[in-house]
Amino acid sequence: MTVNAHIPAPACALPGAPSPFKATGRTLRWGVVATGGIAAKVTADLALLEDSTLHAVSSRDAGRAQAFARRHGFERSYHDDDGVPGYQHLVNDPAVDIVYVAAPHGQHFEIARSALAGGKHVLCEKAFTVNAHEAEALIKLARTKGVFLMEAMWTRFLPSVNRVWEIIRSGEIGDVKWVHADLGFPAPADPSSRLWDPVAGGGALLDLTVYPLTWAIGALGMPSSATAIGALNDDGVDVQNAIGLTFPSGAQAQLTSSLVSACPSVAVISGTKGWIRSGSPLHSPRELTVQQVHGQTRTERFELAGAGYTYELRETTRCIQSGLLESPTMPLEDSLNVMRVLDGVRAQLGIRYANDVR
Ligand SMILES: NC(=O)c1ccc[n+]([C@@H]2O[C@H](COP(=O)([O-])OP(=O)(O)OC[C@H]3O[C@@H](n4cnc5c(N)ncnc54)[C@H](OP(=O)(O)O)[C@@H]3O)[C@@H](O)[C@H]2O)c1
Repeated sequence: MTVNAHIPAPACALPGAPSPFKATGRTLRWGVVATGGIAAKVTADLALLEDSTLHAVSSRDAGRAQAFARRHGFERSYHDDDGVPGYQHLVNDPAVDIVYVAAPHGQHFEIARSALAGGKHVLCEKAFTVNAHEAEALIKLARTKGVFLMEAMWTRFLPSVNRVWEIIRSGEIGDVKWVHADLGFPAPADPSSRLWDPVAGGGALLDLTVYPLTWAIGALGMPSSATAIGALNDDGVDVQNAIGLTFPSGAQAQLTSSLVSACPSVAVISGTKGWIRSGSPLHSPRELTVQQVHGQTRTERFELAGAGYTYELRETTRCIQSGLLESPTMPLEDSLNVMRVLDGVRAQLGIRYANDVR
């Protein structure tokens, strides 16, 4: 039988680990770059965490930086001035241990590069970068500097998702042959949104496809080939795409992502003996349905601690406290390989990002 399920459980969730969620007194002082939607959600979960201090936030704008700092209780705030970006001021603060990059995709590389060069650990939002070239450069720099680096692919750390890999490993659904995963919603046609901005790395691919891909990779490992169709708007931003993947085992996956259609946003993993369907949305499911071919249907339900970002934040904390420079659950090689898959898809669809010229 092929051993499927390729993502190991997070270090902090390993059975038998000593009281993983007790404060150790070895506190990480966080610096958050950007004040948008995800920065606020992840900061709220950081505030729930043992071993973390909300030290500093940076914004392009002084008012936004100060308001965000006040709202969430950061000790300091930084902003762009005299031609120096706010994030650079934050990186220059010796009290910051780790920088969380919550800017749009197009800005990830420059901000993460500056933080790593300054000797800071980095947790960088998904998609990791806009292309494999940028990902490779960040990984190399992190290793040279001897600091921790991870893509904030929170889905990999959720109890429900780790349960999926456990069920697959148990053999309950047999050999996995097929994964079908979709994510989509009709995004408002707001020209100021990063979702539609080609410079910010807008489009379904970097924003959404990374999640269906996480499910396919978790069940089947890295694909050996990808074939894509997609639709681009007049700015060259992909509004939706469908990707067919083939894996070394011969298994296949069909992934769809859309910024223009309402989608069920679920993942189905089909094996020779049964299937598992995620709850919706697949990036943070609270339930799983498991069906054996001639058996009964079973539903398993899960609670999320905080908004669900606590798991990746704990993993980051535990890795750094243990001296690990990357997480076994979200290894840098996987982030790089995902960017390579996305580069291959882009070549087929004709999607270009401003950073590609670098
Ligand atoms: N893990 C998740 O669940 C999740 C969910 C949503 C998004 N994300 C990821 O998080 C990142 C940010 O997404 P978001 O939804 O938070 O976006 P957003 O609401 O538009 O916020 C992005 C923030 O980045 C800062 N920024 C810096 N340079 C910018 C630029 N050139 N254009 C626009 N904003 C810029 C802005 O803060 P200042 O003006 O204060 O500098 C802005 O508020 C993306 O990589 C996205 O894929 C992850």
